[in-house]
Amino acid sequence: MNLTTSLGNLVLKNPVLVASGTFGYGLEYQDIVELEKLGALVLKTITLNPREGNSPPRIWETPSGMLNAIGLQNVGIDNFLDAKLPLFKKIDVPIIINIAGETIDEYVELANRLDGVNEIAAIELNVSCPNVKKGGMRFGEDSSLLEELVKAVRRATKKNLITKLTPNVTDITAIAKSAEGAGSDVLSLVNTFLGMAIDTNSRHPRLGYTTGGLSGPAIRPIAVRMVWQVAKAVKVPVIGMGGIASLEDALEFIIAGAAAISTGTANFINPNIAVEIIDGLGRYMEKNNIKDLSEIRGKV
Ligand SMILES: Cc1cc2nc3c(=O)[nH]c(=O)nc-3n(C[C@H](O)[C@H](O)[C@H](O)COP(=O)(O)O)c2cc1C
Repeated sequence: MNLTTSLGNLVLKNPVLVASGTFGYGLEYQDIVELEKLGALVLKTITLNPREGNSPPRIWETPSGMLNAIGLQNVGIDNFLDAKLPLFKKIDVPIIINIAGETIDEYVELANRLDGVNEIAAIELNVSCPNVKKGGMRFGEDSSLLEELVKAVRRATKKNLITKLTPNVTDITAIAKSAEGAGSDVLSLVNTFLGMAIDTNSRHPRLGYTTGGLSGPAIRPIAVRMVWQVAKAVKVPVIGMGGIASLEDALEFIIAGAAAISTGTANFINPNIAVEIIDGLGRYMEKNNIKDLSEIRGKV
């Protein structure tokens, strides 16, 4: 059975990843999850300077999902390269770094710094965070701004470039085509949906940041629809995510056209869910006499 999948010039041994921000820097999980089994590890967004993130409360559970407004808390690129990256030497799994900036220049500087770092297999551009005042989702909402950003980053690095799209747009295919046209090798979607919850007693928002990003099974049908639309509209591979919590869910995205999938919110309930999906995928292929994932990819 062939579980391998290609993301640009990166060949993964299987199509199951963990989504940015839902698996820390990966290292936190090494005692409970066999990280080397994963197709790739996507790290929490890194920015140029360390960020403390938003004021609490930062998460709120909702029906079949959660709202979060973490605000891109992270150690910053210098600390990451000095203190975290060396620890990956012992772990044989492709590392995808996810970056965000407040300006195009910040994205370019980050990409420049990472271009020569051998341990990094690909760079994912987070242009879709709904929980920051500057940058974030603003780049992913506007086709021409996104095109300018991706072109600038493309010039700064030869590494595989993944653009992570926001679902908070009217026409996801138009945005996807802009990113592809500007030189993105891969697209990933979806990031979270902008949402809000209110405490009716205090009449305050449930989150310190007021609004947050909705994720989890509640968003899955919308994410499947968007992945299906985008996979048909572009030639580059698509990484699908949004509420994947089981093998069945992962298969939906693959059949909709995803070259790879990521588990996100589900990691908080079961940190081993990605590994369980990988094992289940092998069994599903065997049972259905599928030799290669391409036999079902996009075959809805
Ligand atoms: C607590 C939390 C933190 C997140 N942080 C990031 C982040 O730092 N960068 C990013 O690109 N996406 C981030 N995301 C979005 C996820 O990577 C994913 O796109 C989204 O949650 C949809 O997948 P899911 O429904 O399986 O969680 C975060 C999501 C959650 C729930």
